[in-house]
Amino acid sequence: MPQIPSGARGAVITGWGRALPDKIVTNDELSKTLDTNDAWIRERTGIHQRHIGGTTAGLSVQSARLAMQMANVDPLEIDALVLATTTPDRAVPGTSASVQHQLGLKCGAYDINAACSGFVYALINAHGLIAMGAKKVLVIGTDTLSRVTDWSDRGTAILFADGSGACVLEAVDGPGQLLAWDLDADGSAEELLYAEIGGFIKMDGKEVFRRAVRIMVDSAQKSMAIAGVTADQLALVVPHQANTRIISAACDRLGVPMERTSIVLHETGNTSSASIPLAFFDAADKGRLKNGDLVLLVGFGAGMTAASAILRWQGQR
Ligand code: COA
Repeated sequence: MPQIPSGARGAVITGWGRALPDKIVTNDELSKTLDTNDAWIRERTGIHQRHIGGTTAGLSVQSARLAMQMANVDPLEIDALVLATTTPDRAVPGTSASVQHQLGLKCGAYDINAACSGFVYALINAHGLIAMGAKKVLVIGTDTLSRVTDWSDRGTAILFADGSGACVLEAVDGPGQLLAWDLDADGSAEELLYAEIGGFIKMDGKEVFRRAVRIMVDSAQKSMAIAGVTADQLALVVPHQANTRIISAACDRLGVPMERTSIVLHETGNTSSASIPLAFFDAADKGRLKNGDLVLLVGFGAGMTAASAILRWQGQR
């Protein structure tokens, strides 16, 4: 379990933004074309509605502009753009290239595909860039899963949706917000959740559910151990927004009450790489975070990836 070397240059989030397509699709609307119903979807997943539409680049530009505005940074000040997405607009080049151009950035830009753990992967990666000398890094998590969802498959169509969340990460003197991190993957479980190039998502929902709880708890516990943090010290847990039953089972095992989680999935569905930033920055926008609060981000996804991070919230400078 890698630990952050003492003396490594730290970073803090100085601005954030969220973007969701305008079009909302309710459970009732889905049940017009699928053999399902609102009560079943709410009870088994916690989802009431989802936002559908847009492109990965378009949503990324929207959330990133808000983040850069809040951080009060000029596009030319950004040293790198890291975009987490599992639904790029094209196979080549990375969608980050298009986002970089549309935002007027003059810096390196690359995509990270770690499925629903993607934003935490990107955030850790961005901290690494700052430790290596970058001063301001733009981190985005965006997915347009509606484009790879088979709308006639009730096992997946009820879950997946589109959205984006972004933040500006800036170098600070002295220790930054990141206390510990953990990244994991198990490629042997690839067949449980995948989409062929040009194809739709296929999923063994029951098995994904079972493993999700275990790997989330495992990753969270590793980060907590490295940071020397106990569950009762966490002010906020931001889990991947896949299913409230997965979140509540994981929180139960971690010893965290549900009131201390941020949940937006009833409104957004599962937006993969966007899910953690949408929930994280929803909590920030609602004033649920104060400086010094300990926050656990924890995700899991296809691959099967898992990722967690413990942050000491410092918010805007
Ligand atoms: N609407 C209505 N009924 C449905 C349904 C739907 N969309 N999907 C399944 N059913 C029915 C099944 O046919 C079954 O009926 P039966 O008992 O008469 O045989 C019953 O509901 C239970 O089905 P099951 O497959 O056991 O449901 P579940 O409780 O496992 O819930 C998921 C299905 C997909 C919601 C759940 O497995 C899940 O969320 N898994 C994790 C998926 C995930 O998070 N993926 C993304 C990871 S990043």
